[in-house]
Amino acid sequence: MDFKQYVTIVEDYPKEGIRFKDITTLMQDGPAYKAAIQALGEYAADLDADLIVGPEARGFVVGCPLAVEMGKGFIPVRKAGKLPREVLSVDYGLEYGKDSLTIHKDSITKGQKVLITDDLLATGGTIEATIKMVEELGGVVVGIAFLIELSYLNGRDRLKNYNTFSLMTY
Ligand code: PRP
Repeated sequence: MDFKQYVTIVEDYPKEGIRFKDITTLMQDGPAYKAAIQALGEYAADLDADLIVGPEARGFVVGCPLAVEMGKGFIPVRKAGKLPREVLSVDYGLEYGKDSLTIHKDSITKGQKVLITDDLLATGGTIEATIKMVEELGGVVVGIAFLIELSYLNGRDRLKNYNTFSLMTY
C-alpha cells in the first residue's frame, strides 16, 4: 500500500517553513490505518517484545492499536503532570520547543523487552528521552517503530545502536 497518499502535507504549520505531516487523514481511513498498524506489527513480529511504550499523544495513536494487535501491554509516556503515580522524569528538546516526559516507575520490570513506538521521528529528542527512561527502569529496547521518519532532520543518528523501522520516509 502507498501509505504516503493518506498523509496530508500542511505547509507552514505550526510555524513558517515547517511542512507538517498530518496523519489524521491516514487515521480516518479505516483500511489504511489498519494496514499501517499491521505493517508495524510485521516489523515487530520477530522482536519478541513484552511491552509497547509510546509517548503522547500521537504515539498512543500508533502504540495502542499495535499493542492490542500484538496482544501486549501498552505503557504511556506522558508530558509532566499527567501521570497519577510515582514517575521517572526526563527533560528533552523538541523539533520546536522543550518539555519533560514522564513514565510510571513501576511500569517496566528489569529485563523486560520493550518496543517503542511513535508516529514521527523528527530530531529524535522524544525517542531519545523515551529510551533513556525505559533503560533507567531496566527495560531492554528491542525495537523502535515509526509511521514517519523525516530523514533530513537526522534523528536516526541518535538511534544508531537500536533496531529501527519507519513505514514512510520523507
Ligand atoms: C511530535 C511527534 C513525536 C515528536 C517528534 O510530538 O508526535 O512524538 O514530536 O519530534 P522529535 O523527533 O523532534 O522529538 P509532539 O511533542 O508534538 O506531541 P503530540 O504527539 O502530543 O502532538
